[in-house]
Amino acid sequence: MAGASIDELLRSAGIAAIDARVLLRAALGVDDAYLAAHSAQSPTDRQRNHFLALVRRRQAGEPVAYITGEREFYSLAFRVTPAVLIPRPETELLVESALERVPAQGPCRVLELATGSGCVAVAIALHRPSAQVTATDVAGDALAVARDNAARHGAHIEFVESDWFAALAGRRYHLIVCNPPYVAERDPHLQKGDLRFEPRAALVAGADGLGCIRLIVAQAGACLESGGSLLLEHGYDQAARCRALLEQAGYRDVTSRRDLAGGERVTGGRV
Ligand SMILES: C[S@@+](CC[C@H](N)C(=O)[O-])C[C@H]1O[C@@H](n2cnc3c(N)ncnc32)[C@H](O)[C@@H]1O
Repeated sequence: MAGASIDELLRSAGIAAIDARVLLRAALGVDDAYLAAHSAQSPTDRQRNHFLALVRRRQAGEPVAYITGEREFYSLAFRVTPAVLIPRPETELLVESALERVPAQGPCRVLELATGSGCVAVAIALHRPSAQVTATDVAGDALAVARDNAARHGAHIEFVESDWFAALAGRRYHLIVCNPPYVAERDPHLQKGDLRFEPRAALVAGADGLGCIRLIVAQAGACLESGGSLLLEHGYDQAARCRALLEQAGYRDVTSRRDLAGGERVTGGRV
């Protein structure tokens, strides 16, 4: 491989083409335009060895986002570490649904429960600068990543370490959003792909995956202003059960929205 060009390195990496490009960009510290414009150029030995080391990690199954330490979400770059869930494209629907309920001007208190990397809270705070955004997580190491991401983007967010609503007694919000853990503990997907490397506490919620959602639906009402909304992301097959939980708890206007893949992904209602 000594003297191999950018094009040859990409073609011989032995991993998905998109992953090879992302890892070569990271190894060289360049962007896609540079790779395209310099495809015949040969990286230095040091750069090539760095790239090949990253490729070996990918071949061992490690998610690209943990290898590069970064993932894009809502057109913003977020730092990610193995302490946080890797932001997913489908979660952009939670942000879109939230932004529809937060006025462009004027005060609005928004709570994001279980913020992980902070991607949802940061996107909301940047798009609705007049909103007061609070973000929580039970995991202190995740909150450190979220704080860092908020600082990187200049987003004004209050972070609170809390086991669901435990540290929020007496507070009231106009909107509560959450992408909680919602995978069933015996779901075979947990043994596949990126999920093997992500924090189990960010993924798993009891035997049917609805343990966290049940708790949030039961407790969120006490933290919502009259007329306030709760929005939850959930699994592709959990929408009907989420709607039933919200309706049984007395929420009104309960509806689900579909993600780009066509699956019902976000369900919410008003108190
Ligand atoms: C599915 S991840 C969502 C992360 C991020 N909001 C996103 O959408 O990418 C779920 C998050 O729930 C957090 N979590 C798990 N149990 C919790 C609890 N009891 N209280 C608060 N957060 C919790 C995890 O630490 C994890 O960051």
